[in-house]
Amino acid sequence: MAQAQDIVAILGAGAMGAGIAQVAAAAGWHVLLLDVDAETAQRSIDGIKQRLDKRVERGRMSEADARVLVDRLMASDDHAQLATCGLLIEAIVENMDVKVKSMQTLLGHLSDDAIIATNTSSLSVTELGQRIGQPHRTCGMHFFNPAPVMKLVEIVSTSNCDEAIVDQVADIAGIWGKQVARCADTSGFIVNRVARPYYLEAFRCLEDGLCMPDLLDAAMRDAAGFRMGPFELTDLIGHDVNTATTRTVWSSWDKPERLCPVHAQESLVAAGDLGRKTGCGVYDHSGDAPVTVLRGGQDAPRLTAALTKAAADFAAGVSAPAADLPAPIQVALMRVLCGLFNEAMWARHDGVAHADAIDTAMTYGVNYPNGPFNWMATFAPTVVDSAFDALVADVSASRFTRP
Ligand SMILES: NC(=O)c1ccc[n+]([C@@H]2O[C@H](COP(=O)([O-])OP(=O)(O)OC[C@H]3O[C@@H](n4cnc5c(N)ncnc54)[C@H](O)[C@@H]3O)[C@@H](O)[C@H]2O)c1
Repeated sequence: MAQAQDIVAILGAGAMGAGIAQVAAAAGWHVLLLDVDAETAQRSIDGIKQRLDKRVERGRMSEADARVLVDRLMASDDHAQLATCGLLIEAIVENMDVKVKSMQTLLGHLSDDAIIATNTSSLSVTELGQRIGQPHRTCGMHFFNPAPVMKLVEIVSTSNCDEAIVDQVADIAGIWGKQVARCADTSGFIVNRVARPYYLEAFRCLEDGLCMPDLLDAAMRDAAGFRMGPFELTDLIGHDVNTATTRTVWSSWDKPERLCPVHAQESLVAAGDLGRKTGCGVYDHSGDAPVTVLRGGQDAPRLTAALTKAAADFAAGVSAPAADLPAPIQVALMRVLCGLFNEAMWARHDGVAHADAIDTAMTYGVNYPNGPFNWMATFAPTVVDSAFDALVADVSASRFTRP
């Protein structure tokens, strides 16, 4: 018989709830899956089973292991069963009123010492805890999609939640095989804030006529080690989703110019060119290989000698292939990477998280080749300073001034 400390209830059996259920069950936990009704939750379990069957067919998992995992999942709409659960993870639609109302209907059944965690990406964990009247035991457990594949969980603490409870949730995520990055309850947490310049500064380079998208994508991949360049990645994410996150983070952090939405990307959304899902974004995806359709400013900008020199030194510090790139691409590479470094420094300055948590988050949450603080430490000491000095002088003081 499972103990309360290894039974988790998951409210919301959609993309994230199902993924989290699979992660917990794979780690030996029993999972009570709730949704609008038991049939919906059961359909989600059927979906997990189908995905596991495919893994069995491909020889990646034994049939016995798949069966044991699925046997640990139980769909339910009997709230009385919540009394057996030590942890409730909420993963329903991203709407505060709906979350509050649904949680309130469950609370009477939940044991007094059960932990409450929310998987919200953009809502205030503090507000949710307050509104359900359980601030001391409500924290954030922010998984990434798809949860069984993505290694990171951001553990979000609030000023009202007991530290011991946050510690326990971090331990559970670790037991479930995840890398943990602890952070404060702030907009975008770590990843969705620190990653913004990867997209925004790339679009600004395009607007400035510095580079074509395919050339910068190739440089970020082949010379800097990212899995995908910023334009191909935003085409995959969807420009509507990506710009909505930008707007949320930018607005809640008092609209700094660093995080300001970029016209070139917003125009794609206005035109309905959302990326792969509509067939067209920065690239046209209708053929065998993507073809660049979005062109930025037509006049190549005048690059100052100081900027070009700083970018060449910076590129040499990134990699040997980066050292061979043409000057405008080196400037774009420096702008994007220094944008990321600066946002990481501002996030630490704003109390979002410690440097090591930011490095963990960016390495495991978005698979960056290195965490921003670790990466900065690999350059010769004067190179990063000279890069920022040149960017402040010749590109934008408001975007590149460090905290
Ligand atoms: N999709 C992502 O990439 C991602 C990543 C991290 C976090 N999140 C967050 O996870 C949460 C869920 O996102 P998702 O992508 O899984 O959404 P989804 O739309 O795939 O699933 C939501 C599920 O909640 C259920 N639901 C809706 N209202 C309900 C209610 N009142 N009671 C019970 N169940 C209800 C729906 O039936 C559905 O099964 C959101 O807070 C989202 O911000 C999403």
